[in-house]
Amino acid sequence: MNLESVLFTQGFGSRRQCRALIADGRVTIAGSVCADPDADVATDNLSFTVDGTAWPYHEHAYLLLNKPAGYECSREPQHHLSVFNLLPPPFAERGVQCVGRLDQDTTGLLLLSDDGKFVHAFTSPKRKVPKVYLATTRHPLDDLQLKALREGVLLHGEAKPIAAVAAQARGEHMLELTVLEGKYHQVKRMVAAAGNRVEALHRERIGGLVLPQTLAEGAWQWLDEAALSALRQG
Ligand code: URA
Repeated sequence: MNLESVLFTQGFGSRRQCRALIADGRVTIAGSVCADPDADVATDNLSFTVDGTAWPYHEHAYLLLNKPAGYECSREPQHHLSVFNLLPPPFAERGVQCVGRLDQDTTGLLLLSDDGKFVHAFTSPKRKVPKVYLATTRHPLDDLQLKALREGVLLHGEAKPIAAVAAQARGEHMLELTVLEGKYHQVKRMVAAAGNRVEALHRERIGGLVLPQTLAEGAWQWLDEAALSALRQG
């Protein structure tokens, strides 16, 4: 692939902007400036730098963000900053989008990708991927609430009750809830229907992929093959 196309596919602007970046000597490959936009480069395991920042080449971007509270999962947020403010601009430029949404006040594991098939597969209502949430509740948890969550609660606008795959108390006010669906405000609505209220919500796991404890709030990382296969496991 020529270098101009490499930069273009990785989100460094229009073809014209990519050519200019390269011609201005701002791009290096294997430690040397490459100022020729037409230079042929092998993309396997390619790493290049733009203005000193290293970028691995990825045909598709698969990312994980440790979402802080106060960010909306939208490129055009209404009342808060966008999660895209936490990512380098090339990701938005190359069409990365959120794989399902978290509310602005929800924290934790958020996936993002520019692979349309992947986004669709993981957001399709048919795809039942377990998602584990930790909810801090206003009132103490009790067995009746946990039973209601496990057996199913009827949410406004839904034809059938929705049951959690698992619901257990991790503390008097700390609920661990596993759900398969991704309905609007689902956890908050389920907890409310069971007679309690969510004060804070955190997503800890999707499929077999756990939010790495070493990843700071607001930080992101690429998903490697191991992480992607963990994601597909329940
Ligand atoms: N359920 C909610 O209520 N909010 C989220 O952000 C995610 C799941």
